[in-house]
Amino acid sequence: MENTAADSAPIGFFDSGVGGLTIWQAATKVLPNESTIYLADTANCPYGTKDDDFILQRSIANTEWLIKQGCKLIVIACNTATAAAITTLRKQFDVPFVGIEPAIKPAAKATKSKIIGVLATAGTLRGKHFAATSQGLPNDIKIIVQEAIGWVETVERGETAPDKQTLDIVSRHIEPLLKQGADTLVLGCTHFPFLEEAIKKVTGPNIQLFNPADAVARQIATLLKTRKLQSPVTSTPSYRFESTGDATTLKMLISSLDFRKNLQS
Ligand code: DGL
Repeated sequence: MENTAADSAPIGFFDSGVGGLTIWQAATKVLPNESTIYLADTANCPYGTKDDDFILQRSIANTEWLIKQGCKLIVIACNTATAAAITTLRKQFDVPFVGIEPAIKPAAKATKSKIIGVLATAGTLRGKHFAATSQGLPNDIKIIVQEAIGWVETVERGETAPDKQTLDIVSRHIEPLLKQGADTLVLGCTHFPFLEEAIKKVTGPNIQLFNPADAVARQIATLLKTRKLQSPVTSTPSYRFESTGDATTLKMLISSLDFRKNLQS
């Protein structure tokens, strides 16, 4: 099949901030010829503590901007924005969308204690979208949800190293899940893999962490193929990163993208 000029258009990614880089990294590994534009809405971060209407308006603005840059497909690299906006975005825009959901199903397959802890923002945990994600699981699986207060802000400050303050914030929300018998933890926010080192320090080696990044990357690849939007295999990709606010942490994290090595998808 011959590729058209439109095939070489970039894939757009947006998140409230740097978290979507965890998805971007997985996607660019699977799709080495695709160009990308990543938009961090840093000026409005975090989304998780805001109401659904605010998150929807920001998601519309981010999408309009990415479409203006010529993006052929948009990845909502944020669980919170996916929950609040994906249904409306799909109705309002012609471009295809890929969203992010907490990796509850693979965690349900792996758990031995039958207790899964889900860490996410308040925005992700409320409402129909999250309820639908947890449906259809075997009856003996128990899901315990935990709003991970302050984690997004910690990552946005660039405080990802497991120092005392970060360990305190992380352990405050993980310990209750471990006490209730969770042996698998779902990282239901794209920022959280940046805290993997601190999380592992708190959990020890026997707790499995789940992150949907690799599954989402495969989904993007499939969608590009079925819509015939793939870039030519000879393309050299270009990567553009933009922020609506201070880009210090974005720049810092882009240069250290090897944080996902121990996570499962
Ligand atoms: N990365 C976003 C997510 O996956 C963070 C949400 C926020 O800004 O609070 O939910």
